[in-house]
Amino acid sequence: MNPFLEQYYNNWLGEAEVKSETTLKSRGLRTFVPLCGKSLDLLYLVKRGHCVEGLEGAEKALAEFTQEHGMTRKEVPIELSLPDDLKSEFSLFEFTGEVAEPPSKVTEVPEGSKIDITPGSLRIWKGNLFRLKDVPDFPRYNFWFDRGSFIAIDPATRGEYVALVHKLLAPGAKMLLLSFQYKKEEMQGPPNTLSYEEVVEFFTPGSATSPLPASAKYRVTLIDLVEYKPGVREHRFTKLSWAADPVILIEKLED
Ligand SMILES: C[S@@+](CC[C@H](N)C(=O)[O-])C[C@H]1O[C@@H](n2cnc3c(N)ncnc32)[C@H](O)[C@@H]1O
Repeated sequence: MNPFLEQYYNNWLGEAEVKSETTLKSRGLRTFVPLCGKSLDLLYLVKRGHCVEGLEGAEKALAEFTQEHGMTRKEVPIELSLPDDLKSEFSLFEFTGEVAEPPSKVTEVPEGSKIDITPGSLRIWKGNLFRLKDVPDFPRYNFWFDRGSFIAIDPATRGEYVALVHKLLAPGAKMLLLSFQYKKEEMQGPPNTLSYEEVVEFFTPGSATSPLPASAKYRVTLIDLVEYKPGVREHRFTKLSWAADPVILIEKLED
């Protein structure tokens, strides 16, 4: 599991939501995880009561995700009016089973802990994220978890990604963005460097240097900036003289 997801979970959801006695799933609230791969974060979100929908383009990742956790994967009908040329682009899979809870760097996971993946808790769309812009009635989400998505795509497509976020987030929705930042000249991504200031500029243009206007559609907050010094982190980033993980909350105020 990504330690930042666990560490900043309450900042993302808000204290009132975390204390709520009913699950997000039971209230019909939905969480989107684009470019999910076979991330263990999907399991953590199910454990926390989310109704999770991932999106991934590679069949291999979905097959491995199913097999590595001993889950059942079933293709389910898509109840959307897909244009003809997209009917073969998207499939939807439902995952069920009782899976071993993955180890955590933040909390102790008692031996033998299981996560119950009940029907409707975890679905993954298979297809190209960017083709979603052509689906008129794609569902809208109340929560969005982005780890390795915004920073993985070609920087030239970032505007398109932000337009998709806008299309798919319901008003009042909250997105947790785990970004990665470094000096551009020191590494060729992906992951591509993406600072808090750049994210502000995408969602609330012009507000980095002046107060948020009353007409703003988003509020962007830097929850934390976890900095690394020379020789940072994982081996493949050791050539970076400085790097940081900006942890960012993006709230959609209105459509
Ligand atoms: C950085 S990786 C996975 C990150 C994942 N969120 C995690 O935390 O491990 C990016 C994934 O996105 C998938 N991907 C990349 N571009 C895509 C696209 N346009 N549509 C769907 N999936 C895509 C890749 O197959 C890969 O599994």
